[in-house]
Amino acid sequence: MSTVRFSRFGFILAAVGSAVGLGNIWKFPYVTGEYGGGAFVLVYLITALFIGIFVLIAELLIGKLGQSDAVSMFENLATKKKNLWKYAGFMVIVPLIILSYYSVVIGWIFHYIVVSFQSLPSNIEESKNIFMTLLTSDLQTQFMYHTIVFVLVTSIILNGVKDGIERINKILMPLLALILSILFIYSLSVESFSKAVTFMFNPDFTKLSSEAIIVAIGQAFYTLSLGMGIIITYAASLPKHVNIVKSSLIIAVIDTLVAIIAGLIIFTLLFDKGAESTKGAGLVFISLPSVFYEFGSIGTFLAILFFIAIAFAGITSAISMLEPMVSFFVNRFNYTRLKAALICSLFFYILGIAALLSNITDYSPMLMIGSKNLFDWLDFVASTVLVPLGGILVVVFVGHFMDENKINAELIPLLGKTITKVWFFMVRYIIPIALILVILNETGIFKF
Ligand code: PHE
Repeated sequence: MSTVRFSRFGFILAAVGSAVGLGNIWKFPYVTGEYGGGAFVLVYLITALFIGIFVLIAELLIGKLGQSDAVSMFENLATKKKNLWKYAGFMVIVPLIILSYYSVVIGWIFHYIVVSFQSLPSNIEESKNIFMTLLTSDLQTQFMYHTIVFVLVTSIILNGVKDGIERINKILMPLLALILSILFIYSLSVESFSKAVTFMFNPDFTKLSSEAIIVAIGQAFYTLSLGMGIIITYAASLPKHVNIVKSSLIIAVIDTLVAIIAGLIIFTLLFDKGAESTKGAGLVFISLPSVFYEFGSIGTFLAILFFIAIAFAGITSAISMLEPMVSFFVNRFNYTRLKAALICSLFFYILGIAALLSNITDYSPMLMIGSKNLFDWLDFVASTVLVPLGGILVVVFVGHFMDENKINAELIPLLGKTITKVWFFMVRYIIPIALILVILNETGIFKF
């Protein structure tokens, strides 16, 4: 493993940079809307803070004790069945699959920064039109932005852990915090803020279906970048004396706070204009732009800031998706960083082009598989099946196949004996079962 390490602050920033992404600012608000608000938020908070922190600790442990690439770490740390466990490390392919379409979505966001500068749609119909045109017929624009994201993330990754990943996070994350603070302070001044608070924090348990609980668990994993070898890989470059429990707490709390703040901002703006639009993925790309328009010139300013914020959040997540596989090639096969980065980037770039073509009307029939097009399949398979599956592998590995004494030596000084026992119990039994339920539910094998 390279000897270049994150600084302590750089590590936290990079991990938070990975966690805070489109999942927080785009997805969290719309699933909250879809599943009825307060009660869903409460379940999400509980799962992100309990299951999330427990699994974060597990992934940080693997990285800290393994000190290698994800594949080798599973192999080296396994107390039995080493040969089989190395295949668990191939979860590093999952973030590359996610990155293929994630990059296309970051491209849409770039487009919306431009739209905000030029002219926002004046009503919901026009807004829908702009988005659907981009999605289904504007191949050129999507291709151009996807290419820009490809060049951008590849060049950052090329510079390595410290000069690439750490440095970009040190620039973008404080800016993201600043922009979100401005937007949040503005929304505090809008009357409907209290409505947004009620919507998000006043749980109506009659609306809470068991499906909502399962979705909340899935969302917690996705948003914390768990189950994909990302945190594991970053943790292998941890500086020596880092308290992994404290780090997990900080990462989970900041990630959750960002989701809540983004939700409050978005719902305040929507409710203020009476927009009924808490449903579906079009929330950010269709409903919000026309709501921003209704706010007049301040709305344009808010829109520009908002889309820049999501772009920053997206880019820091995107680079984290590339690193696990790059580190695997560099470490395992002695590839140069250049060669490794190019192979990984070309993989997601080409897959991303196929994904974006599958939304374009002229090409979509060729790229339909059953009821979904390629774009939707990639998202579905990666985030609803492979991410929870990766999560199961992590907890089963740490709970049953790693040296318990080594884990105790790390955790007992930080957590004490009793809580370490609770952690083991969760990791060994409760979390794997919860994740199996997530997969069964999301694949429709067993609906709750
Ligand atoms: N956690 C990121 C988000 O919330 C998503 C992500 C997925 C990041 C996969 C890294 C890997 O947007």
